[in-house]
Amino acid sequence: MESRRTFIKKSALAAAAAALPAVSSCVTISTIKASEPMKSKEVNYAAVLWYSQTGNTQKCGKVLARTLEKKGITVIDGDLRNFDQKKITAVDLIVIGSPVFYYDTPDFVKKFIQSLPDINGIPVAAYVTFGGPEGNQHNAACSILEGLVQKHGVPVGLEIFRSISSYSLSFNAKDQDIKTDRNTILPDHNTYKKVRDYAGFIISEVEKGNTSEFKKTLTLREFSTYFGPEWWTKLFVDNHSIIEENCVECGACIEKCPTDSIDLATFSVDTDTCVLCFGCINNCNYQAVNMEYSNEKLMGFNEFLEKNNLKFELPAELKI
Ligand SMILES: Cc1cc2nc3c(=O)[nH]c(=O)nc-3n(C[C@H](O)[C@H](O)[C@H](O)COP(=O)(O)O)c2cc1C
Repeated sequence: MESRRTFIKKSALAAAAAALPAVSSCVTISTIKASEPMKSKEVNYAAVLWYSQTGNTQKCGKVLARTLEKKGITVIDGDLRNFDQKKITAVDLIVIGSPVFYYDTPDFVKKFIQSLPDINGIPVAAYVTFGGPEGNQHNAACSILEGLVQKHGVPVGLEIFRSISSYSLSFNAKDQDIKTDRNTILPDHNTYKKVRDYAGFIISEVEKGNTSEFKKTLTLREFSTYFGPEWWTKLFVDNHSIIEENCVECGACIEKCPTDSIDLATFSVDTDTCVLCFGCINNCNYQAVNMEYSNEKLMGFNEFLEKNNLKFELPAELKI
């Protein structure tokens, strides 16, 4: 855990953040724009890559990829962690999608972008999926473009798609009427139409050779990302561990953990390195991940969907 000194320092910073009056969203903290000309106005080959913990970002990515294919484009699509980076310089368009975690794009997605080779003039577009109404989504999508522009990509689009929240701490509102809960809006045909329209928009921008400027602005939630919201939340989560009797050692939790914090040999979780992304509990189908908040056991995403009989409307592209 953090030292007492760090704790005091973070407390002081958090107090300062709380005392901050409503920060105007017109303060620009970065402008994301092309630093070089677009490589080509023709798109024959595209990469649509995403990180998705509970499937929302993946569904949007697949709809986007299939829409591009219908336009005659060859598309490589999939989880960015499995992508062969050597292929990136061969494509004519890169689209990257991510969920919003703690008001931003997760660090491991940013690190993936940092690890790419130079993409010299390739048009780039970003999208994020998010679960709540106030989540700094525009800035989170800007974080993706920022990284791609540092690699000399040319920004052409940014979009946000509302989905259902996968944030485990929003599931324990057990007395709440789930149908009116603002975090449980399931993506529907309108969401997928917006995704298809976005794919069309990206292509038309590239064909016209248009690039856009995007501004990251100083919102209160952007400001709060400077103080490690996941670190603060972690202070209130107890007994994060694997329940040996329930665990079937399928490895789903390990597969999603971005920090290798789970050891199934000892059924333990290294809570110091854990970034509290809930990937383990959200993907365990055996209720074998224990996490408690205010002495209540938390629920994972799949358990939450099942308990509330929430079913996804699949986009036409994904129906078999
Ligand atoms: C750890 C964590 C933090 C989250 N933080 C936010 C947030 O700050 N703002 C927001 O709108 N949604 C937030 N969400 C909800 C996800 O962004 C949303 O459910 C997203 O669609 C999940 O995508 P996926 O299914 O592809 O993983 C969070 C979810 C998790 C698990």
